[in-house]
Amino acid sequence: MRKNIVAGNWKMNLNLQEGVALATALNEALKDKTVNCDVVIGTPFIHLASVVNAVDTTKIGVAAQNCADKASGAYTGEIAASMIASTGATYVILGHSERRAYYHETAEILKEKVLLALANGLTPIFCIGEVLEEREAEKHFEVVKSQIESSLFDLSAEDFGKIVLAYEPVWAIGTGKTATAAQAQEMHAFIRETLVAKYGKDVADNTSILYGGSCNASNAKELFSNPDVDGGLIGGASLGVDKFMPIIEAF
Ligand code: PGA
Repeated sequence: MRKNIVAGNWKMNLNLQEGVALATALNEALKDKTVNCDVVIGTPFIHLASVVNAVDTTKIGVAAQNCADKASGAYTGEIAASMIASTGATYVILGHSERRAYYHETAEILKEKVLLALANGLTPIFCIGEVLEEREAEKHFEVVKSQIESSLFDLSAEDFGKIVLAYEPVWAIGTGKTATAAQAQEMHAFIRETLVAKYGKDVADNTSILYGGSCNASNAKELFSNPDVDGGLIGGASLGVDKFMPIIEAF
């Protein structure tokens, strides 16, 4: 059966020392605790190797926030999936709405990134979600379905089974405006139905679908209590142990 996952997305915050300190503190907080979900932290690239060394990776998975759409070579400034894997990180966040909007990542580019992540043994946390105008025009189901289809539906059932999805309505990211538990459940159930139609019930039932967008200690419990919400992708509230731990413990 699918896993519950609480994943932090630090975005472009914290210098190396601050990042290692946060990871160390989280590791300490989780040390003697049994929690009911997998915990992941998504750090900037340059933090990865140090953070992997600072935590017990059997308790905290480490994620990159992006990877290149090429395997290697003359791509100045890019970071390959194989390099991420070589740090000991095991996840990569792909298709975040900030990458799609500010760095023009298209469905085709994301398809390549997903293939490279999988080829290097990384688990993609693949983000999807509509912008406000699309929701207001009642196009949100269509948009999310198309994001999944266009980047992921060429995968075999076996490979799709390695993907974690994160539904992040763009209007809820960093705005303090969370989707209601009912809105999240409605979309997550729709996503799962879409997966059933393509890959069958077993694959769909085994896919973790996280919710992201202003998820915090006060709304996590209600969001996670929905049958199709299998955890969260947490931005702002992952930047402090005091804010992140209660979300982990919401399971
Ligand atoms: P937020 O970000 O929790 O700060 O809204 C979530 C995300 O972008 O993954």
